[in-house]
Amino acid sequence: KSILVLNGPNLNLLGTRDPKVYGKVTLAEIEKDCILRGKALGYQVECRQSNHEGQLVDWIHEAKGKFAAIVMNAGAYTHTSIALMDAITSVELPVAEVHLSNIHKRETFRHLSYLSKVSVGMICGFGAIGYQLALEALADHLAA
Ligand code: DQA
Repeated sequence: KSILVLNGPNLNLLGTRDPKVYGKVTLAEIEKDCILRGKALGYQVECRQSNHEGQLVDWIHEAKGKFAAIVMNAGAYTHTSIALMDAITSVELPVAEVHLSNIHKRETFRHLSYLSKVSVGMICGFGAIGYQLALEALADHLAA
């Protein structure tokens, strides 16, 4: 039983990037916590990050048959990428969308999420713990 945790563009810079908005925690710390939380929930967690839209599309395709679900913070591609939305629809895997910041409190161009149209649900505004909440929500969804 495995869950894939995918992070998109600029999230490799967490810790130093705009800490007032995104906090001080690094992606390495988030990924370590996801692996631990996954284990506690009975899932093996694999974490990947890319700044490239096509790479994320490829990883979503490859996830079919290999992972039970995906936790995804697509970064700015959330607001632009019909390709990522279509990839998720194509593989029919449950996706939990995560954002560190509350995207609805920010600029209007961040209010639209293409991913929300195909994800089971979305957690935003709670910072790094959102990833762990998403894992818990997916484990519950998968058990239902
Ligand atoms: C983000 C929100 C996006 O609008 C932004 O482009 C990001 C990070 C978040 O985690 O709050 O890169 O997905």
